[in-house]
Amino acid sequence: MDSKNKKPATAVIHAGLNSPQQGAPFTDGPCFASTFHLKGEADSADYQYARFHNPTWTALEKGLSELEGGETVIFPSGMAACAAILSSLLVSGQTIVLPADGYYATRAYAEAFLQPNGINIQLVATTKLLDIDYSDVDLVLIETPSNPLLDVVDIKRLADKVHTSGALLAIDNTTATVLGQQPLSLGADISMSADTKALNGHSDVVFGHVSSADKQLIERIRLWRKLAGNIPGPMETWMVHRGLATLDLRLERMCANASKVAAFLNTHSSVKSVRYPGLESDPSHRVASAQMHHFGFVVSFDLGEASLAQTFLNNAALVFEATSFGGLHTMAERRARWGTDDVSQGLIRLSVGCEHVDDIIHDLECALSKIAK
Ligand SMILES: Cc1ncc(COP(=O)(O)O)c(C=O)c1O
Repeated sequence: MDSKNKKPATAVIHAGLNSPQQGAPFTDGPCFASTFHLKGEADSADYQYARFHNPTWTALEKGLSELEGGETVIFPSGMAACAAILSSLLVSGQTIVLPADGYYATRAYAEAFLQPNGINIQLVATTKLLDIDYSDVDLVLIETPSNPLLDVVDIKRLADKVHTSGALLAIDNTTATVLGQQPLSLGADISMSADTKALNGHSDVVFGHVSSADKQLIERIRLWRKLAGNIPGPMETWMVHRGLATLDLRLERMCANASKVAAFLNTHSSVKSVRYPGLESDPSHRVASAQMHHFGFVVSFDLGEASLAQTFLNNAALVFEATSFGGLHTMAERRARWGTDDVSQGLIRLSVGCEHVDDIIHDLECALSKIAK
């Protein structure tokens, strides 16, 4: 069966597997090798040296390529994937547009390593991306839904606008995952993701990937990985491949839970505001409904003050306080504690996990009761 015709639940389970062979295991284990036998000409074997390639990478890259609809290069973190895009595609005098309200480390990387080399950075709020002029822009790297405020941009419309000016569009697809939306089929040139989050989903690996249907572009990304040596380990690669197989199963539970949690928070008297693209009243709802296959598992809500948010977190028992999202376990943090995001001091980013939703809501209810006035 062509992977395009498979349902997502089937596609992730079969992504990157070898065809069945008598007596062979369903999946190969990680290949721990730095060196491969290589007699004669340098290109006479598929594998030469493990900074260039590894069979465990090949299997995951094949699987992710099937799902993304473009060739995939894997990286040892989401930031390594971002750095590969930013460092390999821009030269001095060019301009990049980044979200003013996206993951802070992407902005910080650009400011620390691109700006001093003569690359201009333009920061634009996610909700304003369709309003600006791209005529002097070379690359646009944005997030939709954005982290942490979950604003959404119409990828098709943005791709048309960006391409009219001759620029490239890259989407950080971390919060949606490849099952939530396929940026390449919506017109983006690049889809990237921090697979540390939901794609691996078990809070035990840091990982990332970049995909593109543009052969020249993805070869340049691959070359950057080979020459920069920014490569993932075989064990982590194998773990991510294993995590990928249950992505649909986990997302189904997490997103259904998040939808109920958002509805609960939306009517709670201690909660000032809630952002969740699945809420009909949310500003992201219309576009998210049209371009996404699910509304995600992250819910951001505002408790108004830092002290109230911290009291809530201190009193949550099931909800872990942690700075990540997309795992099996429900986790939350007060985003403003880092001083990197322009958000309310009382904003909580809640990543809803796979626990039973009644237990999650009970825990939220108990923790919120400690701040009720
Ligand atoms: C949207 C987004 N992109 C990229 C990253 C970076 O990923 P990593 O921590 O795997 O380097 C993160 C991390 O939180 C993120 O939230």
